[in-house]
Amino acid sequence: MTEQNRPNVQALIWTGDSLKVLDQRQLPDVSVYDEYRDAEGVAEAIATMRVRGAPAIGIAAAYGVVLSCLRHFDENPADWRARVEADSERLAKSRPTAVNLFWALAQMKAVLDQPSDNPLPALRARAEKIHADDIADNRRMGELGADLLQGAAGVLTHCNTGALATGGYGTALGVIRSAYRRNPLAVYAGETRPWLQGARLTIWELSQDGIPATLIADSAAAWLMKSGAVNWVVVGADRIAANGDTANKIGTYALAVLARQHGVKVMVAAPTSTLDPGIESGNDIEIEQRNPNELLPACYTENSLITAWNPVFDVTPAALISAIVTERGVILNPSEHGVRSLLQ
Ligand code: MRU
Repeated sequence: MTEQNRPNVQALIWTGDSLKVLDQRQLPDVSVYDEYRDAEGVAEAIATMRVRGAPAIGIAAAYGVVLSCLRHFDENPADWRARVEADSERLAKSRPTAVNLFWALAQMKAVLDQPSDNPLPALRARAEKIHADDIADNRRMGELGADLLQGAAGVLTHCNTGALATGGYGTALGVIRSAYRRNPLAVYAGETRPWLQGARLTIWELSQDGIPATLIADSAAAWLMKSGAVNWVVVGADRIAANGDTANKIGTYALAVLARQHGVKVMVAAPTSTLDPGIESGNDIEIEQRNPNELLPACYTENSLITAWNPVFDVTPAALISAIVTERGVILNPSEHGVRSLLQ
């Protein structure tokens, strides 16, 4: 098998009547799949971050709708539709920020709304298409993003945007993969506290791919940029508003501010399923707040004097972004005009 065709790790494996989810909380030490046969389980897997990353969440939710229909269409012929709708609502409540979740559920609803004696084949086909399209889109973004990185000596990435966060290959990490294959460049990855997606997942994926990488503490980013080692910050997105403001993993905004100070460019790589033209600006994006106990040292979790503020995403203003790379093309210096033209 050539380097180009070697499959990356798979976050989600669809068997036809169940969804296997790689439990990312245990990586890189333990690689174990949990198998789900109902939507409730899939919603739980998303909420507890067994599966995470905007496109992967959307794909998992789409399969969750198929599992719901598989169960209820035969078992509850009288009210299967109401039960599938209730399951879709449960899936929609699993996490708030990544729009890919709602986009995928809307795709599944559109199929459900078509008159049919048996919606299952069409639902299955749609979920599988969402999954396959995501991989193809990532490959395309990889090439477009790599064009922009031509001549770059080093990049810094944040969070995990690779095969684990998507249907396969990755968004920002896909760009880095494609760029590295054309011309080796230095890859730096921030730890990404508090869940350590960078330290646990990104460098693991890169090492599996044979791409050398250097891990940094999130707080080392300014000093790294000052050293001149990186020309681009390359990140993914969870939701992009109509004006190009971009919600992504907490810490992305800080990197973009630092990048501006140091003359480093910022690339956001995301499929168009991450664009939310219904939202005017980043001010309207709901930012997920997770349990303070995910951040607090254990000795403080029962202490009523001490808590933690734990937003897990932030919004980078479009003015700090040099390029948004999608499967449909690149938006340079993003603005409302650029986003809307791309979507037309
Ligand atoms: O909380 P997570 O791990 O789901 O957050 C993931 C990110 O912020 C990614 O950068 C984003 O989803 C893009 S993934 C291709």
